[in-house]
Amino acid sequence: MTDDTEPRNFVDIDDLTTEELHAVLTRATDLKEREHRGKHHPLLSGQTLGMIFEKPSTRTRVSFETGMTQLGGHAIFLGPDDIHLGHGEPVKDTARALSRYVDLLMARVFDHADVQELAEYATVPVVNGLTDDAHPCQTLADLLTIRERFGDFEADVAWIGDGNNVAQSFVLGAAMVDLDLTVATPPEYAIDDAVLDRAAELGTPPEVTTDPEAAVEGADIVYTDVWVSMGQEDQRAEKLERFQRGGFQVSDDLLDPDTQVMHCLPAHRGEEITDEVMESDRALVWDQAENRLHAQKGLMTWLD
Ligand code: CP
Ligand code: NVA
Repeated sequence: MTDDTEPRNFVDIDDLTTEELHAVLTRATDLKEREHRGKHHPLLSGQTLGMIFEKPSTRTRVSFETGMTQLGGHAIFLGPDDIHLGHGEPVKDTARALSRYVDLLMARVFDHADVQELAEYATVPVVNGLTDDAHPCQTLADLLTIRERFGDFEADVAWIGDGNNVAQSFVLGAAMVDLDLTVATPPEYAIDDAVLDRAAELGTPPEVTTDPEAAVEGADIVYTDVWVSMGQEDQRAEKLERFQRGGFQVSDDLLDPDTQVMHCLPAHRGEEITDEVMESDRALVWDQAENRLHAQKGLMTWLD
């Protein structure tokens, strides 16, 4: 694709309007139902997705690649040692060259500014597959999962743990659909003020606390993620100590009997969540993981 029309990108969840977000989720549900009836729809026949990965991935890589196959297209995995990005070639050159081959780019990178630069210079749509600051594709799947269980987002949700990339995108997405969200983090690991300000502009901002027990009270769903994200390994000891001391582990002791649990995965059992919770009927995590596939198919066909 080399024409002059500006491609739509998905670098942050609010690159979609609220109306568009609902439309992408509805499209995802439609594609999911068709898929479960055994029907693939070649809506992206002949198209190629380039997938840039600076960090490891199980779900993002496989759901994007499988999604492209099911839609009749093809995906190319471009790992850290496969391309010149990270070995001397600038982001903007990578963006312009790859745009001459592929129809869509997805990138998982450390620095959020790098995916923004890819989007600035690419002439095809760019999708953020996770940065240190945001994980909007995860939010699409999370909202799809909540909407399936609680039609129209009529749920009380509590985020317990780190105010990280997954949390920040979820805060924005939750605000856009007016989800009743409470966020509990230690004060040192809070959601960025700029994200909270943006959430207030977009819709309903979360309640913010440092008390995990108060946050989970009455919650239909408790959502958590790792305490030590990819790239933060040097902070591991201090973060584990802080979250353990603050009582942020999602365990049966913390939860009401009917509370359900979400986790973007990978989970670190014994740290942010117990093995018992992961293996219990509370855990929505496998539906959530499956919904990465459907949500991204909805997104990719919408960006097309
Ligand atoms: N949730 C998520 O993005 O998982 P991966 O790191 O396995 O892609
Ligand atoms: N917060 C985690 C999410 C992994 C999908 C990380 O960035 O490592």
